[in-house]
Amino acid sequence: MDGMNTDPFRADVLDGLSYPQKSLPSRWLYDAEGSRLFDRITELPEYYPTRTELKILRSRASEMASAIGPQSVVIEYGAGSLLKVRILLDALDRPEAFVPVDISASHLHTAADELKADYPKLQIHPVAADFMASNLGEALPQAAGRRAGFFPGSTVGNLLDADILRFLSNARSDLGDGSCFIVGLDQPKSPDVLLPAYDDAQGVTAAFNLNLLKRINRELGGNFDLDAFAHEARWNAAESRIEMHLRSLKPQSATVAGERFRFAEGETIHTENSRKIGLDAFGELAEKAGWRLDRTWMDDDNLFAVMMLEAV
Ligand code: AVI
Repeated sequence: MDGMNTDPFRADVLDGLSYPQKSLPSRWLYDAEGSRLFDRITELPEYYPTRTELKILRSRASEMASAIGPQSVVIEYGAGSLLKVRILLDALDRPEAFVPVDISASHLHTAADELKADYPKLQIHPVAADFMASNLGEALPQAAGRRAGFFPGSTVGNLLDADILRFLSNARSDLGDGSCFIVGLDQPKSPDVLLPAYDDAQGVTAAFNLNLLKRINRELGGNFDLDAFAHEARWNAAESRIEMHLRSLKPQSATVAGERFRFAEGETIHTENSRKIGLDAFGELAEKAGWRLDRTWMDDDNLFAVMMLEAV
């Protein structure tokens, strides 16, 4: 097999564009430009999840910290810029170590260096890995207190049930007996609130979605006409999820890595699911993976939940 055929992005794109409902895995939205656009999304007036979760973390960090206890090790999955974990670290009693896990090695090391400067007593062990595939076992440092997983941002909502189960089960075996896990989860609510959050007035979410075609053109020798596709956010009530699609504005074809794909006018490429999972449904998944939903903190409008799972 030559190198090209082992490129997972290429394989996912060629596979995803061959189904009757064309679809691409949402993880490919996050190249450098996609990550930058996502950071802008988190600051949009319509995108309530980030600021609501931050408010919950800020107002409840001391309760979370006392539930975790002293001298803990915090493990953050899909760590990103490490802003949210600072709120937890500031509230914790003498945390001993922090293990940020992120697929982007350069982003991870820059953020870890910045954190180190502000928390000189904390041992920081960055792990450059896909949080879905991580097997931290040996990489986790020993400490006097317990291990606390941290997975804010409601990224679990971008995964299918089977992948949530796999992730939570892996985390359960990584973190071990006696551990706990803090997870952020956006909540079901009216599409009147959800749709603008995924189709903002400034068009940042549209640019984030269309950037996937730009990435295909650049990295896979594609020739998508970016002006001939439009961003679309849909509320799928039966599945309780927002779907992002790219809709073809005319009959057309595009070539990727030498293969040609046809699009009818109005046909879409499904690029992301953002599920709004209720607490009971999440609790059931957590239980199957060896966790018990112990506590939930929410904002006054019940928009977003931060949950504390305890290992059973
Ligand atoms: C990363 N994830 C939780 C975001 C979400 O809300 O599902 C990704 C996103 N897609 C469009 N806007 C934000």
